[in-house]
Amino acid sequence: MELAGRKIVLGITGGIAAYKACELARRLREQGAEVQAVMTASARQFVGAASLQALTGRPVFDDLWDARVPDGMAHIALSRDADAIVVAPASANFLAKLAHGLCDDLLSTLVLARRREQCQLLVAPAMNVEMWEQAATQRNVVQLLLDGVQVLGPAQGDQACGETGAGRMLEPDEIVADLIAAFQPKILRGRRVLITAGPTFEAIDPVRGITNRSSGKMGYALARAAHEAGAVVTLVSGPTGLAAPHGVARIDVDGAAQMHEQVLAQADTADVFIAVAAVADWRAAEPSTTKIKKQPGTQPAPLPLATNPDILASVAALPAPPLCVGFAAESERLVENARAKLAAKGVTMIIANQVEAALGADAVELVLVDASTTRTLPMAPKLKQARRIVAAIAQRLDTRMESTQ
Ligand code: CTP
Repeated sequence: MELAGRKIVLGITGGIAAYKACELARRLREQGAEVQAVMTASARQFVGAASLQALTGRPVFDDLWDARVPDGMAHIALSRDADAIVVAPASANFLAKLAHGLCDDLLSTLVLARRREQCQLLVAPAMNVEMWEQAATQRNVVQLLLDGVQVLGPAQGDQACGETGAGRMLEPDEIVADLIAAFQPKILRGRRVLITAGPTFEAIDPVRGITNRSSGKMGYALARAAHEAGAVVTLVSGPTGLAAPHGVARIDVDGAAQMHEQVLAQADTADVFIAVAAVADWRAAEPSTTKIKKQPGTQPAPLPLATNPDILASVAALPAPPLCVGFAAESERLVENARAKLAAKGVTMIIANQVEAALGADAVELVLVDASTTRTLPMAPKLKQARRIVAAIAQRLDTRMESTQ
């Protein structure tokens, strides 16, 4: 329920993607938002007001002169207590009107009438690739960005008209993620954050390997929280079943050696490195290139192991390292072991958890340990914990900046 108590105006303009507005309305409600749908006349050609009314639980507005509004000023009544207006899909025509302040129907008028300091405006363009790439549209988009409007997407891909390219509306889930992010403080704006997540998979032969039960959820939650806070995020991930958080660049790896290589390639430009991955300590010294066959009646052959590089320690040892944060998954003596890791790896912060309780769970209790403090982050969903960790990191980055000035 990331949008609980939020009042959202969902504006729908004319375009084939308007059918996805029904799904979007539903997703917004699932997150706890109150949704007021407002349609343009063209939108009504593509989607029925009855569907939107059923999904939002409110009558849909489309007329500047709607007699249901007591004082006859629907554009004021609908925009005044909104926390955000999301226009999805936003047609080329609507973007052009917005860029020039034109208001000739209810939606364009209420957008212009919104209180900018309390009501954010987000638009999700949807149009044919040629319309999107046209100089006039691009000029309008630049103007909207300068005016503080958040432009979501558009995505690339196959289009309803049969052509391919930029202009597809983002998926409803992506728009919801962007809206949730819009309400988060931008405490990492412009920072580059590098994160490892998930387990590693160390091949023994082409079908078998050494791995562990890390789900990747905590690392992915941190990637999402850092992105929401305005950072440019790269996630180097071992094999997990999770989708990359919207807006986060993911590099997929298998073994620790590959993860190490990818991390070192990015570490120089990172402001923050968060090592969440459960990296296997050992790998098969000489993985077989063909499937190892069992020999009936004989003992299994020994499996010689080699030690994997410590990725976190090697980043912390760089000449100009990013701010480094590690995790410690412990069965016992949490704080003591976390402090030992803080010193051994030379990092700024260690987040410790009780491993048996944390593995695969959606909510965890964490302990944040740094050189001078120990702070418990009480039981909460991993995304909430991730936002707390991001806040702690932002605070330390600011202190670091001050001390170097
Ligand atoms: N880490 C790493 N590279 C490794 C091993 C660990 O980057 N080869 C990182 C993890 O991502 C985590 C922290 O180091 O941030 C965990 O430290 P580690 O000492 O490996 O923890 P455990 O594997 O739990 O160690 P131990 O078995 O000694 O408790």
